Amino acid sequence: MKKIFIANWKMTGSYTQAHDYFSIFKGLLKDNQDLFAKDRSVIFCPASPYLSFVDGVITGTGVHLGAQDCSAHEGAAHTAETSAAMVKDVGCSHVLLGHSEYRQRFSPSADVLSKKINQALEQDLIPVFCIGESLDHYKDKITKSILEKQLSVLEKVQDLQNLHIAYEPVWAIGSGKVPTLDDIEETCSWIGEYIAKNHDIVLPILYGGSVKPDNAAEMISLPSVQGVLVGGASLKPDDFFRICCV
Ligand code: PGA
Repeated sequence: MKKIFIANWKMTGSYTQAHDYFSIFKGLLKDNQDLFAKDRSVIFCPASPYLSFVDGVITGTGVHLGAQDCSAHEGAAHTAETSAAMVKDVGCSHVLLGHSEYRQRFSPSADVLSKKINQALEQDLIPVFCIGESLDHYKDKITKSILEKQLSVLEKVQDLQNLHIAYEPVWAIGSGKVPTLDDIEETCSWIGEYIAKNHDIVLPILYGGSVKPDNAAEMISLPSVQGVLVGGASLKPDDFFRICCV
C-alpha cells in the first residue's frame, strides 16, 4: 500500500507564498520522481481560494490536490458553501472532512458529516475523515468510546471503498505534544479493527498531530499507520519534503 502524506495548510497562504513554496518543492521533487511515483502519495490541501492556482502549479508533478471541506448539500441556495462537485471541478482528488478545528468551530452533526462524505464520494473524491479525542477525553481514558461515536457517522455512508481515516488527537494538533508510538499504534490498530468488524473493509489510517521531520519516520513505520496528516510542518517546503521522504 502506498504511504500517504497530506499537507494541511489550514487558513494560511497567499499567491506569493504558494508560488515560492512550489518553486522550492518542485525542485526537490525533480530528483526523486521515481520514489514518489512508486510508493508515495502526496496531497496538498491549501485554503479554498488557492486551490485552482495550486492545481496549475502542481500539474505534471504527480502530487495531488485536496480541499479542506465540502458542503453536505447540492444545489444553489447555500451561500458561502462549496459543493463537492466544485471541489472536484477545480482539480481536487481529496477532501478533508471533520477536521477537529472545523468541528470546534461549527459543531457539525453526525448527519451533516455523513452527508459531506457521501457528497464527496459521489464526485469520486477521496474523503479523509478526521477523528480524535480531546485532552479531557484522553486524560479520562475514554478515547475509544469517543472515537467509536465519531466513527458511527460511517453507518450512513453508502460506500466506504475510497475513504481514508485520519486519527488526530485534538491535544496533539499544533501543540508539539505527541502520543507515544505504542499509543498511536494501539489506537490506529483499534480503528482498523473497528472498521473491519463493522463495515467489513480495510481502510488506510493516517496519524496527524505535531508530525515533524524528526518524528515522521517512526510514525510512518508503525504497522497500522499508512500515512500522516501534517499541519505546521507542511508550511516549509524543505520540512514537508523531508517528511515525504521518510
Ligand atoms: P499540526 O496540525 O501538524 O500542526 O499539529 C495537524 C492538523 O491539524 O491536521
